[in-house]
Amino acid sequence: MSRRGKFITFEGLDGTGKSTQIRKLAGALRSAGHEVIETREPGGTEAGEKIRRLLLDSATEGLSSLAEMALMFAARAQHIAEVIEPALAIGQIVLCDRFTDSTEAYQGNGRRLGSDVVLKLHRLLCGDIQPDLTILLDSEPGLSLGRARARNRRTSNASQSSNRFAGGHRGDENRFEQETRVFFNRVRQGYRAIAAREPERVAVVDATGTPGQTHRQIMEIVERRLKLGPRAA
Ligand code: TYD
Repeated sequence: MSRRGKFITFEGLDGTGKSTQIRKLAGALRSAGHEVIETREPGGTEAGEKIRRLLLDSATEGLSSLAEMALMFAARAQHIAEVIEPALAIGQIVLCDRFTDSTEAYQGNGRRLGSDVVLKLHRLLCGDIQPDLTILLDSEPGLSLGRARARNRRTSNASQSSNRFAGGHRGDENRFEQETRVFFNRVRQGYRAIAAREPERVAVVDATGTPGQTHRQIMEIVERRLKLGPRAA
């Protein structure tokens, strides 16, 4: 029977470079002989990607904070059942862009629903599954949001020009990026509180360096904490 795999999550404000770092870490781990899957939340499954479109589209108006949190967990429960648990069960390494810490930081702190309800729902709906390691890419909201907004402008322009079937409103992923600086400061404080509460799981990485510098820091943490060296054939 194969050993259970490792579950590594990436967290941080929008635009901190999570997806670039996931790609780089996945490449390095594959070169060392590991089987790796890259996935994201909200999303990662067919149903989850539909929920993602609803949650992130700036045309979605009037969603209550509780409904928003419930949808995040609905997507997550499906993602765990369909993707994360089966991959871990056959010994793969799962790299996931956001997980329950995002709900605690954004809905718990940003929307002020509190941590307790998020952690309770996690126990009820997610079987309390915990990442083996969480990389928190930390940077000031001013810096990361500028990057996230520029990227979303580029991708929504590209999808509008390439999608000749799209009539009426074309979906974007801007709903959260329209939040205020005050909201994102609360999200960042939420993340820092999680890292202070669970230092053995969460490693805080400065996200203001170059992608190469950040990658080297992440490699060092992964090797030290999870002892993921080259895999014996
Ligand atoms: P993502 O695509 O990772 O954004 P980015 O690449 O810009 O970092 O995540 C989409 C948005 O969803 C992001 O603004 C954070 C938000 N979110 C929550 O508010 N709660 C959650 O539980 C999750 C998973 C994401």
